[in-house]
Amino acid sequence: MKTYNYYLFFSLFLVIFGCKEQAKNETIKSENEDSEVLLETSANASKIGKEYALETQKLLGKNLVGAIQKKGVLGALDFCNVKAIPLTDSIAKKHGAIIKRVSDRPRNIKNKANSVELAQIEHFKKRLEQEKEVDPVVISEGNKNKFYYPIITNAMCLQCHGTPNEEIAPATLSKLEGLYPDDKAIGYGPNEVRGIWSITFK
Ligand code: HEC
Repeated sequence: MKTYNYYLFFSLFLVIFGCKEQAKNETIKSENEDSEVLLETSANASKIGKEYALETQKLLGKNLVGAIQKKGVLGALDFCNVKAIPLTDSIAKKHGAIIKRVSDRPRNIKNKANSVELAQIEHFKKRLEQEKEVDPVVISEGNKNKFYYPIITNAMCLQCHGTPNEEIAPATLSKLEGLYPDDKAIGYGPNEVRGIWSITFK
């Protein structure tokens, strides 16, 4: 009788212990699956965000270069002043997204970065300084994705964002002063973080 009791106790112990182990494995498995899903979602969001940013950049770039060729830098200023935000919004509307071009040193006060965006700008500046690859940043909040990607200057930009009276011609400068009395977007060199794309989508 005694041996039987021992045997029963031992089997019960095995059953309880065994079940526990199995349950533990299941949670580990589902956590892994969740994080795989998360990784996949974020890679996909990164791809979508990049597409939206590139599409907007292309549209703005094409119009900007066209305006400079047709009307010169001074004329192109009017284009940027009037058209940059509506053109950006047109792509946003098409995709049901929010697309912003924001900066820590904005020309147009409407393009001023918020605190989260400022932190991302600092992050991208550091990456560029360290000559590391600059990958987009995606932050998922509920069913929304927030995408951040840097906007980097090249020589062409300096005609309107470079050093006054060197790259920025005096006439351009005085027109800029008229349009944007609080302009902070001058004094840039090439290959600097001029701002970021800040895009929100589902
Ligand atoms: C012809 C002049 C001109 C050139 C060239 C130019 N920009 Fe601008 N940029 C402007 C104006 C004007 C604004 C303000 C637009 C507005 O009022 O919405 C602006 C705004 C911006 C903004 C939005 C943030 C802010 O400061 O308001 C970014 C980012 C920007 N430019 C990046 C660039 C980059 C990068 C290049 C080169 C590829 C470039 N720009 C070339 C005139 C120019």
